[in-house]
Amino acid sequence: MGLAPGLVIDLCSGYGTGTIAFREHGHTVVTVDWNPEVSPVVLADVRDLPRFIKDARPWGVWFSPDCRPFSYARHVWARYPDKTIVPEAMETIWTVLDQIRDWDPTWWLMENPRGHLQDEIGPPKFETNWCAWGKPYRKPTQFWGKFPHNLAQPCRHAVHRQRVTSTRDPTRRAEIPRAFAEAVYQAATARGPA
Ligand SMILES: C[S@@+](CC[C@H](N)C(=O)[O-])C[C@H]1O[C@@H](n2cnc3c(N)ncnc32)[C@H](O)[C@@H]1O
Repeated sequence: MGLAPGLVIDLCSGYGTGTIAFREHGHTVVTVDWNPEVSPVVLADVRDLPRFIKDARPWGVWFSPDCRPFSYARHVWARYPDKTIVPEAMETIWTVLDQIRDWDPTWWLMENPRGHLQDEIGPPKFETNWCAWGKPYRKPTQFWGKFPHNLAQPCRHAVHRQRVTSTRDPTRRAEIPRAFAEAVYQAATARGPA
């Protein structure tokens, strides 16, 4: 695989909606997920990346770790009363953050819906609302990382057409709005690929 200039690595990519704008604008995007159903470029556990990915020199990195361990929803905690999913999820996050530090990309973003992750790693760089980017629900979503622009957007709606929970597939529920993905691309490329 050619690891081109402007390479973007999308970890825990799901369907890759976070980095779709980079792909559409011609960047090489390597999606990594352990779920074959989402057809990632690299089928792997992000805690154990193949050597050619570790040795890559990404310009940008997107990371969408599983949000369920950090959810405010009570039903999650009813299912995991001992909360062991939190240390397991944090182990994945610390491993990936170490890898990102090794890569030292020009920009990187880690995304999670507003929840307990901020209690584990501190306040986000910015928070935005998916209703401001074309989704029919609010879903406040937080971002950590190194990024040239603050893409915070407030919610301006008194009511929303839909609740995020009405989408049953958890990976579909985790999709990034297309308009936000494009804004990330525009912000990242304002300075041009390294
Ligand atoms: C929140 S979803 C990502 C949604 C994504 N933003 C999208 O566009 O669809 C989290 C994804 O992380 C994957 N995942 C969770 N733990 C993983 C691991 N240790 N290694 C690889 N993939 C993992 C899941 O299979 C899931 O697709």
